[in-house]
Amino acid sequence: MKKVNIGLLGFGTVGAGVAKIFIENREVLRSRVGAHLNLKYVADIDMKTDRGVRLDEGVLISDAEKVLDDPDIDIIIEMIGGEGIAKEFILKAIDNGKHVVTANKALLAAHGNALGRAAMEKGVDLAYEASVGGCMPIIKSLRESLVGNRISSMIGILNGTCNYILSKITDEGMAFESALSQAQENGFAEADPTLDVGGFDTAHKLAILNALAYGMEINLKDIYIEGISEITPLDIQFAGEFGYRIKLLAIGKDRGDSVEARVHPTMIPFDNLLSNVNANLNAISISGDAVGDMALYGFGAGMMPTASAVVSDIVDISRNLLSGVSGRVPLLSYQSEDIRKIPVMPVDEISTHYYLRFSAMDQPGVLSKIAGALGRHDISIKSVHQKGRELEGLVPIVMLTHLAKEADMKKALSEIAALDIIGSKPVIIRIEDKNGQD
Ligand code: HSE
Repeated sequence: MKKVNIGLLGFGTVGAGVAKIFIENREVLRSRVGAHLNLKYVADIDMKTDRGVRLDEGVLISDAEKVLDDPDIDIIIEMIGGEGIAKEFILKAIDNGKHVVTANKALLAAHGNALGRAAMEKGVDLAYEASVGGCMPIIKSLRESLVGNRISSMIGILNGTCNYILSKITDEGMAFESALSQAQENGFAEADPTLDVGGFDTAHKLAILNALAYGMEINLKDIYIEGISEITPLDIQFAGEFGYRIKLLAIGKDRGDSVEARVHPTMIPFDNLLSNVNANLNAISISGDAVGDMALYGFGAGMMPTASAVVSDIVDISRNLLSGVSGRVPLLSYQSEDIRKIPVMPVDEISTHYYLRFSAMDQPGVLSKIAGALGRHDISIKSVHQKGRELEGLVPIVMLTHLAKEADMKKALSEIAALDIIGSKPVIIRIEDKNGQD
């Protein structure tokens, strides 16, 4: 029987999940590929920890170089993570003519263009389905299934940790720190959770998706990023009273000569699909000119869902190998000569609806001062609510706006923040509401 030899670098949670699928689904994989997927080596410096997976004698080794230098190995799976040694190993694997599978979104967001060029020059495939959305086949959807479309927008919940935290605060009144600890215990938070709560992990993923959807180079540095650490239970409660849930969204939109690329907490109406994606689940809704609106939903992290995506890449590459082809599907979906440096629209230029919360003195003329500043900057108020009781002489005043430009909003808010009737920094949360177009 034909055989494809595979070397796995990194025997952590997802690496162990990949090995488990190879062992437990061996027959179904063989029938689908037409060859035996042979996990020849698994390299990890930790040779002792029991991962609950029984590898054959001699498969687990500590020397990654031995795997990279083995001429029999066809495919290297990089499951180490980070931008250091993982990058070196991937470059060496490519240099040695091996195809590479990785889930390393941080590395791809920072160095994906260079890694892609190296793979193309060497004529090997670099596959990365597991880098975004775990088990959701979002990379394959953009690279293959949706290629007949011009994508107008992608709006996604792409970080399970943030979604878990926001869901726990919203539905159970749990404290932020406790929810984060639970996410860490459950194993879906990054080793450095500021990557999650600061919105950076979501931005890594958006950088990859925008490149695939719009035919642009991976561009992380121009993405506007706001995390969830300043979201308070009070704003979550008010959002609910207005019919919204707060989610950390990745938003990528085609704006003609530019694209929107932003990550921030966003209010979305209850009747929006994404509003009902809770706990550590991920989802993305995509709009294309042919498909209309479509969505993917599933576990964006965790041992087996992520391993499922890794194995799908292995199967793709193995099928290519058996057919004697590589590079069949371009790395970023577009032919390399058609990939452009499309500018990211500065966040100041976007227009959206806003939720604003001011802590203001409860006295005559306050509302007119706030409304006056908004009006001077061309911001039209949709509704005003004075919420709850006075606390230390201040009351929360909440406003929802019609469509307004971010630059105008910033100017108005700095004027309002300087008023002597305002107690603390105004809270601003953008609203993504297809129902309210004005
Ligand atoms: N830390 C990530 C998350 C893991 O919470 O979604 C998957 O990329």
